[in-house]
Amino acid sequence: MDFHVRFVPMNKMIKVRRGTSVLRAAHEGRVTIKTRCGGNAGCLMCKIEVDPEHASALTPPTDAERRKLGPLLEQGIRLACQASVCGQAEVRLPEDPLKAAIRKQLEQSDNDDLW
Ligand code: FES
Repeated sequence: MDFHVRFVPMNKMIKVRRGTSVLRAAHEGRVTIKTRCGGNAGCLMCKIEVDPEHASALTPPTDAERRKLGPLLEQGIRLACQASVCGQAEVRLPEDPLKAAIRKQLEQSDNDDLW
């Protein structure tokens, strides 16, 4: 059975088979999720955010996720390499820190221009 995964904020929808990891879905859809451990829950670089209403569209957290993420799981953080698709899913990729800093500065300068 096929499902769709929507990647936010780029709003890209990828069709995948049940059991496909979110990381693999991202690669298939050419959505960049940086990794260093090859998908072994070792680098924690593949964190994604999942809203509670979409949590059941992913498999339950693995033991590795529980160990590595701890209380972050309660905040909807998952590892894309460990979470697999089992429903119509929507996941949010955290904003790159450098891009976030630039966006904040641009927003600030836009606000300054208004005065
Ligand atoms: S790819 Fe390294 S923790 Fe997921």
